[in-house]
Amino acid sequence: MTKNNLGKNILVVDDEVEMRIALETTLKREGHNITLAKNGEEALELLNANNFDLVLTDVKMPKMNGLQLLKALKGKSPQTISIMMTAYGDIDNAVETIKLGAFDYLLKPFSAEILMAAVNRAFLDNGSQINNFIHSTPKTTKAPARERRIITQNKDMLELIKFVENISYSKSTVLIMGDTGTGKEVFARYIHQMSPRAQKSFMAVNCAALPEGLLETELFGHEKGAFTGAIERKDGKFELAHKGTLLLDEVTEMSLPLQAKLLRVLQEHEIDKVGGRASIPVDVRVIATTNRNIKERIRENKFREDLYYRLNVIPLKLIPLRDRTDDIQVLAEHFIEKHTKDLDKNISHIAKETVALLKKYSWPGNVRELENIIERAILMCHENTLLPSHLFFDEEDIHNEKPNPTANLSGTIHDMEKELILQTLAEVNDNKTKAADNLGISIRTLRNKLAYYKEQANN
Ligand SMILES: Nc1ncnc2c1ncn2[C@@H]1O[C@H](COP(=O)(O)OP(=O)(O)OP(=O)(O)O)[C@@H](O)[C@H]1O
Ligand SMILES: [Mg+2]
Repeated sequence: MTKNNLGKNILVVDDEVEMRIALETTLKREGHNITLAKNGEEALELLNANNFDLVLTDVKMPKMNGLQLLKALKGKSPQTISIMMTAYGDIDNAVETIKLGAFDYLLKPFSAEILMAAVNRAFLDNGSQINNFIHSTPKTTKAPARERRIITQNKDMLELIKFVENISYSKSTVLIMGDTGTGKEVFARYIHQMSPRAQKSFMAVNCAALPEGLLETELFGHEKGAFTGAIERKDGKFELAHKGTLLLDEVTEMSLPLQAKLLRVLQEHEIDKVGGRASIPVDVRVIATTNRNIKERIRENKFREDLYYRLNVIPLKLIPLRDRTDDIQVLAEHFIEKHTKDLDKNISHIAKETVALLKKYSWPGNVRELENIIERAILMCHENTLLPSHLFFDEEDIHNEKPNPTANLSGTIHDMEKELILQTLAEVNDNKTKAADNLGISIRTLRNKLAYYKEQANN
């Protein structure tokens, strides 16, 4: 345990001296006591003689690497929380560390904010949760049922989550694309949760659900007497989401005149209430979603191209469930746990054969459909194991072979990151210091990335 109430005892293990210094400086600033080690071996010696609350370790190091250190640590000092640092492209290793009991991992390069968020999370949960995303078996999961977590074990999804954590700090607009039920809203809420806006409101408006006039007052509000029936002044969702986040669901369904108004809000950061005289400044982070092919909507002149560019500052593409069948079991277990409680059943297992059958289905309704099917299956199940006979779906949709997975997503993530960096630079007239600041990364990281893009372009 810590002697000093102000700070925790943290052991930082990294073979790069610059990294050690950077981490030490950041963590000390927060009042923690820092000890440094160059590799796993040195770390183990220190662990023999001292108690640490947290070990923050690189994975790739000479002598003893981070995985070996983690294993040794679990035997020696199981109460010590560990956070691993790995390079982009090394996500397999990262997933492995979580399975070995690491609390979390950080993908290098990361900003000071990302580091502090992970460290604070670790101390908040006291490291008790194995991690935020990888599902443990229903019996051992302690997370409250209401908690919104992104359940996944899929490598590409885990990379997406890390990407989202990195961009949650900026105010840039995010466009989440993905088929129905893939988790667009889940991701939007997660971005909000991870952002400095988390304490303020998260508001959501479904642009497809309301006729034009109502949608306008829903978004921007109206003054008293603005139109017949406007007996009271009404605040729009933009005002209600001030300093927070506003989710515009199915944004492509907005009428063209409203699209023009939305564009103005995104450009000017102020709204015009219906029947109002003066513009009202608002500070809102906008996240938009669509399950349509937005480029097609643009070609059909149903969606403004300039609005598309405003919204698409950070694009996120979610993966259909059929392309991540490795998530089916963990999701099914999650939903079994969730609904057995509600339905007053006692189901603790899912048979191998049931999982195999679920993996063959094409999942046009994605995760939402999986949840519905599991819920129905639970009703049919009177034993403690969910069997294939409890499942009901359209047999015609069951595939006998796995569909082709789509293009490698990690490529897309790098593209997204590159696009974000170049766009940010353009916005600040190529001022690298400013751009790095807006992006929440160090100027050195920014330079390295730019050098890398240049090199790539020359190859
Ligand atoms: N990774 C996940 N982990 C846990 N639950 C999930 C996950 N992805 C989706 N869900 C659940 O599936 C349902 C659908 O998710 P969500 O509403 O985010 O989908 P969507 O992409 O917004 O769909 P739509 O386009 O139809 O609005 C929700 O109940 C959500 O909680
Ligand atoms: Mg949705």
